[in-house]
Amino acid sequence: MPTSIHSPLTRFRAEPYSPNIGAIIHGLDLTKTQDETTQDQLRAALARFEVLFFRNQPIDAAQHIEVAGIFGNPDGAKAYFPQSDANPLIEVIETKAGGPRYTTDQWHVDVSYLAAPPAGAVLHAQVLPESGGDTLWSSGRRVYAALDPGLAARLEGLTATHSIERSAWPEIIRSQENGEERFRQIRAERVPVSHPVIRSHPVTGEKLVFVNPKYVDRIDGLSRKDSDNLLEHLFGQFERPEFQARLRWEKDTVAVWDNLSTVHYAVADYLPAYRRMHRVTF
Ligand code: SIN
Repeated sequence: MPTSIHSPLTRFRAEPYSPNIGAIIHGLDLTKTQDETTQDQLRAALARFEVLFFRNQPIDAAQHIEVAGIFGNPDGAKAYFPQSDANPLIEVIETKAGGPRYTTDQWHVDVSYLAAPPAGAVLHAQVLPESGGDTLWSSGRRVYAALDPGLAARLEGLTATHSIERSAWPEIIRSQENGEERFRQIRAERVPVSHPVIRSHPVTGEKLVFVNPKYVDRIDGLSRKDSDNLLEHLFGQFERPEFQARLRWEKDTVAVWDNLSTVHYAVADYLPAYRRMHRVTF
């Protein structure tokens, strides 16, 4: 029977990272295959803490994909980052002087412009700047729980339009070789989608706020002004430090997050230094 999110975690120690979001997982070696019970407990821990951090995990490409496979199907939705030579399921998120600015330094849910965005992601630190380049996660569950009840009731049943065109992707893709043609195809495939503003977490059933400033264009059915005001208010709630975990990366730190219940932000304070991360979404 799968582990309930409140069952004791016996196969590893989950040290809360902050009272509201995140845990550091101690006592696991992710270069090894995990048994079924450990996998169940990891899924339960992710549902409970929303983002899990593992230190000193020198995983290779196959092990990275295996870790993602604990949580879901790693062969799912991908963004437009370059793919690793070792395996195309691995996205290489590389920031260097003169390279593309992916604007991951904006609160976002990965690929929320898809009808079925990935449930989560596994990010592995490959090369880090001497300092800086932290990543923050903020909890949509905590944002929901802190909403004024009148506002929460008003948001119930509303949907928001998510679009790739809000983001820097069109500019990045267009600037690449054959970019105009490629972007025409992408635009035809990636029509804007509507997602509920309030969703229920697929595992815990808890309600959460599902909007992000990178991809959400508007709340459907409201005037532009009302939509902008409401979104500005909601985006502001995610910025409250009380709902956040800020990770200081070390080489071979691995982070696993719930992409539906959190938004994240990669701090771009280290440029022109180099930083490279490998990501597998699931
Ligand atoms: C991402 O936005 O998925 C990448 C975050 C990071 O580079 O820290």
